Amino acid sequence: MKNKILVTGGAGYIGSHTCIALHQAGYDIVVYDNLSNSSREAINRVSTLIGQPIEFIEGDIRDTELLRQVFTKHEFFGVIHFAGLKAVGESVAKPLLYYNNNVSGTITLLEAMAEANVKNLVFSSSATVYGDPEVLPIDETSPRSCTNPYGQSKLTVEHILEELAATNDGWNLIPLRYFNPVGAHPSGQIGEDPNDIPNNLMPYISQVAVGKLEKLSIFGNDYPTVDGTGVRDFIHVTDLAQGHVAALNYLQKQVGQDKYSSIGFLPINLGTGKGTSVLELVTAFSKVSGQDILYQFDARRAGDIASCYASADKAKELLGWEAKLSINEMCQDTWRWQSMNPNGYNIA
Ligand code: NAD
Ligand code: UFG
Repeated sequence: MKNKILVTGGAGYIGSHTCIALHQAGYDIVVYDNLSNSSREAINRVSTLIGQPIEFIEGDIRDTELLRQVFTKHEFFGVIHFAGLKAVGESVAKPLLYYNNNVSGTITLLEAMAEANVKNLVFSSSATVYGDPEVLPIDETSPRSCTNPYGQSKLTVEHILEELAATNDGWNLIPLRYFNPVGAHPSGQIGEDPNDIPNNLMPYISQVAVGKLEKLSIFGNDYPTVDGTGVRDFIHVTDLAQGHVAALNYLQKQVGQDKYSSIGFLPINLGTGKGTSVLELVTAFSKVSGQDILYQFDARRAGDIASCYASADKAKELLGWEAKLSINEMCQDTWRWQSMNPNGYNIA
């Protein structure tokens, strides 16, 4: 069985953690990343953690010629496709950039895969494709809609994958819909390293805890939730990484069957199935880190929803995967990474 995997965006937050899990599961990896939102240092640290160099190609998923060379040089079983831009606010200001990078980039990658006859793909989708859910927990049959260009780019890619699988034989396409990834590798060597002031809750909290930021603004305390603050399904990034291994193992098993018929388009949620409020997360982080987290209540953030958490049943049934780590472990590992690397990968 072929076990070499192309990991686009493998230098990023989720990709770097997944590289470690893939290596530990016996997969060979080739990382392809343009480093637009990551650093070489992440690759160096992953290499140190796994005890061997990583094959790294600095390249853009919109570069047809380079992709062609990579697919000619290596015989891949499949691709895990993390590469993409992910800042919701920036996507509103720069929609063309987001559609070009996330949608055109994915089309270019799919064309290169088709040419090389590599038809197994795991794609980073997002719970954002569910918009404002009518029913909780959210299962994979819930209606999809998006209100910003970032979400729309994920939804558009899902539609493209769906149509490709419906009309072309042999494709096995698994969009994994992540809920809210947080946490870091337990070594404290790799983690989330936002460029500017973080948009997302967990990195914001940890930067307040370490003294880089003064105070957290909690966006809204009048939601119909347990304490009025937003509720999300936070999932530890190492659990998420294992979800990718489980998806690949599933593909290997299906493709290896005697009477093999392709899987087509198979969306799967990766979440814990549990909701935690913003205030609950702040309290847990404060306890675990021993730091006061100063906060104030502010107005709701435009586009936010009250509550969002997954039904994680499909991942358990099909992939035999479920999240194992608790909110405390998410906070502990985030805190270890943040306190050991107050400036992220910027070690100069
Ligand atoms: P990240 O920014 O840390 O990683 C993305 C990586 O892709 C970066 O290393 C970046 O340099 C690379 N990249 C971007 N555009 C590229 C291009 N054109 N060519 C080659 N490389 C490119 O983000 P992440 O948090 O690790 O997210 C990974 C994926 O998961 C993204 O597609 C993101 O949209 C999706 N996702 C993330 C979250 C989240 O909260 N982190 C939630 C749902 C979905
Ligand atoms: N929040 C604050 N203060 C902050 C940041 C966030 O109160 O400084 C609140 C938000 O209002 C929300 C909750 O914390 O209630 C979580 O917000 P995040 O920005 O961390 O996460 P979102 O759920 O808004 O969105 C994230 C990613 C999206 C992705 C989605 C689903 O940013 O890209 O999860 O996976 F699509």
